[in-house]
Amino acid sequence: MISRIKGTNDIIEDSKVWEWLEEKLKNVALNFGFVEVRTPIFEATELFNRSVGNETDIVQKEMYTFEDKGGRSITLRPEGTAPVMRAFIENNLSSKGLPQKLFYCGPMFRYERPQAGRLRQFHQFGVELIGSPLPIADAMTILLAIEMLKTIGLDKFKLKINSTGDEKCRPSYVEALKAYYKPFLNDLCDDCKVRYDRNVLRLLDCKKDAKYAESAPKITNYLCDDCKSHFDKLKKYLDDMEIEYEVDPAIVRGLDYYTRTVFEFKYPNLGAQDAIGGGGRYDGLIKELGGAKVPSIGFAFGIERLILALEEEKKLPEIEGLDIYIISIDEDQRIEALKIANALSKYFKVDVDVMGRNVKGQFSLASKENARYTVVIGEEEIKTGLYTLKNMKTGEQWKVRLSEIIKIVSGSAETEIRDQRKSGDL
Ligand code: HAM
Repeated sequence: MISRIKGTNDIIEDSKVWEWLEEKLKNVALNFGFVEVRTPIFEATELFNRSVGNETDIVQKEMYTFEDKGGRSITLRPEGTAPVMRAFIENNLSSKGLPQKLFYCGPMFRYERPQAGRLRQFHQFGVELIGSPLPIADAMTILLAIEMLKTIGLDKFKLKINSTGDEKCRPSYVEALKAYYKPFLNDLCDDCKVRYDRNVLRLLDCKKDAKYAESAPKITNYLCDDCKSHFDKLKKYLDDMEIEYEVDPAIVRGLDYYTRTVFEFKYPNLGAQDAIGGGGRYDGLIKELGGAKVPSIGFAFGIERLILALEEEKKLPEIEGLDIYIISIDEDQRIEALKIANALSKYFKVDVDVMGRNVKGQFSLASKENARYTVVIGEEEIKTGLYTLKNMKTGEQWKVRLSEIIKIVSGSAETEIRDQRKSGDL
């Protein structure tokens, strides 16, 4: 047997929960005026080297990179922001006016060590608000993320925010961090020894060396006036909207394109992989990729982690079963059953037997699929056009026409029909 690749999942039974979740997130984005963007799953490797950053763990260790038959270096996208910005530049979306508000949903690929909540093919729902340098855009983005979490029923999340400064103030902070870590260099983990030269900010979110991070210099003390004022305004907006947050100087994020605001949503009880989503501002990315200077901000949720959080809180929705199972008494009515199933499927979730089961077998399948109603079709029913409709919960039955089935199952006529039946009209 050929098995699936380590760190990937088949989504079968859970696919209904996925549909429900994606639909909810999508509706919030649409209601905030965002438009869906679908970019390819693979891109030129160069795109991620230049955006995510050559020195990051993602580019150094985690990308699925291969040469295609034309000798090009291709990478399965490890994240969604860089592809969306490439599409923004390539399709000249700025000519349509700013801001451009885009969302996306789909698989991402990172060669990480698989564990609970960490996969090699995982899925993100992401949002990018392209074009505004103002802190009100940061506030809107964070508000949107919170609305999404609340809409799916999660409320125990913790929002952590930080500012990573910009090209003016970050260099002096990097110097200060290097000076601070230098005396401990030999005691740091192997990864951090490498990160010290390549990307010293990442030392702050290393779990193994967390004890050093506690007393490390804080970026918030190194912000230039513009970055400080931006961060102060964002905090004020969040306070005004009564959004709870914690300023956490250890939130530095694993991607190089961030400037100023960064944030993460953590969820308690998810173990080591407790970040259900993260994002931030990336004012220099579009320029870095060959476009104009277009300041932007966005975030992405990990779908698998949202589902873990919903499971943890026992908030997974009860997905409704079938509305109607159509049962044929014998072979001769099967095609009529199929036609009726087709007619009713315009309004309801329906199913019909294709395995040649007898009536008992069809009824037990109807119960297994949680059908609310069954419609029984026999010779007599076909002759008269009156079908036996049964409410599977109450056991009540009616002999009714197709149009009445639609009314009853949609809930608009059950009481009415019951009354008529009592009075002897049906
Ligand atoms: P990220 O923090 O790398 O940000 O990923 C966002 C979310 O994807 C994480 O918080 C996590 O929930 C989920 N995730 C990441 N890696 C894995 C994995 N291996 N297995 C399962 N879930 C995972 C970004 O990707 C940015 N592009 C977000 C962004 C959008 N920033 C601005 N705009």
